[in-house]
Amino acid sequence: MPETVRGVIARAQDAPVETVDIVIPDPGPHDVIVRVQACGVCHTDLHYREGGINDEFPFLLGHEAAGVVETVGSAVTHVAEGDAVVLNWRAVCGECRACRRGRPWYCFDTHNASAPMTLTDGTALTPALGIGAFADKTLVHEKQCTKIDPETDPAVSGLLGCGVMAGIGAAMNTGAVSRGDSVAVIGCGGVGDAAIAGARLAGAGTIIAIDRDPRKLEWAKDFGATHTIDASTGDVVEQIKELTDGFGADVVIDAVGRPETWQQAFYGRDLAGTVVLVGVPTPDMKLEMPLIDLFSHGGSLKSSWYGDCLPERDFPMLIDLYRQGRLPLDRFVTERIGIDEVEQAFTAMGEGRVLRSVVVW
Ligand SMILES: NC(=O)c1ccc[n+]([C@@H]2O[C@H](COP(=O)([O-])OP(=O)(O)OC[C@H]3O[C@@H](n4cnc5c(N)ncnc54)[C@H](O)[C@@H]3O)[C@@H](O)[C@H]2O)c1
Ligand SMILES: [Zn+2]
Ligand SMILES: [Zn+2]
Repeated sequence: MPETVRGVIARAQDAPVETVDIVIPDPGPHDVIVRVQACGVCHTDLHYREGGINDEFPFLLGHEAAGVVETVGSAVTHVAEGDAVVLNWRAVCGECRACRRGRPWYCFDTHNASAPMTLTDGTALTPALGIGAFADKTLVHEKQCTKIDPETDPAVSGLLGCGVMAGIGAAMNTGAVSRGDSVAVIGCGGVGDAAIAGARLAGAGTIIAIDRDPRKLEWAKDFGATHTIDASTGDVVEQIKELTDGFGADVVIDAVGRPETWQQAFYGRDLAGTVVLVGVPTPDMKLEMPLIDLFSHGGSLKSSWYGDCLPERDFPMLIDLYRQGRLPLDRFVTERIGIDEVEQAFTAMGEGRVLRSVVVW
């Protein structure tokens, strides 16, 4: 029987989010219903509600979540009722060209639930990143559930479901930071600080945190920043160079995603260094720069989608590092809030008061 639960939707561009009744259809053969225990507020949720991702309103927001499998479809084998899981938006198909070539993190046919959740009048909801977890329960494909150690606090483990994984992976996977590298990270929110933590895990030497909010720079030190640059004062590129013997950093990660921050990343690199764009630009943003600069600086210019992660490989490994005390995942949780407080959490994010607000049940 379809079930009615509470969920947070964005009905129209820029309208404040609302908590409403939503209907979860019966799971298809490979679907599961997950009782959500915690879901972090990611900047991408705000991008959705601002119309910056696409215009498929209404959205069911929330996508950084952990919970417990409650009901499984008839053919589910990947998880069982009662399993503690982190939800992911990269349930790779194993069949597409990318998967067959051994690059499943580029899979372009990832699995999602077989039917949409709806409003009570039957209007289909678009779940953010195919998840939609600011809800008491959500419907996902079985492979969107990665089983984890049930002892881990869901408010902490759920963050691996998006921003923290994206940041760590931007450094470790996409940027391939290695021992002794100098790394600069522009934008020290949840994603940027995770990139800093990833750079430290990978053995980076100098790790430069860059933000225009001094409070964020203080927090960045907790994750491993060795130096900080206040982007609101002075030239960011010059300051990166000063901290790297005049060369620029080996890897610069843009965790903001604007033309000006990307250009700082581009010019703040050493020759043949790497730029990783993990912040998400909006469709109207444009880049204009001399083509000769791209040629003469060499190196690689990469985007990082979800930190090029593989959830089944990476989530349990990172939780293990957390439990060993080698990755301070719990420090990303600034506040725990109720399901009706997502709009306030967006405000707190905008004002720089939080790394992550996490909705808990
Ligand atoms: N690629 C992916 O897979 C992926 C996954 C999750 C999030 N994201 C994106 O990553 C970005 C960051 O997400 P978040 O949740 O950390 O956001 P956030 O709002 O918590 O953090 C952004 C930080 O950037 C800083 N900032 C803004 N403009 C700046 C500037 N011009 N110079 C320096 N610092 C500046 C802010 O002060 C803030 O600390 C967003 O665009 C989000 O959509 C991407
Ligand atoms: Zn695939
Ligand atoms: Zn996200």
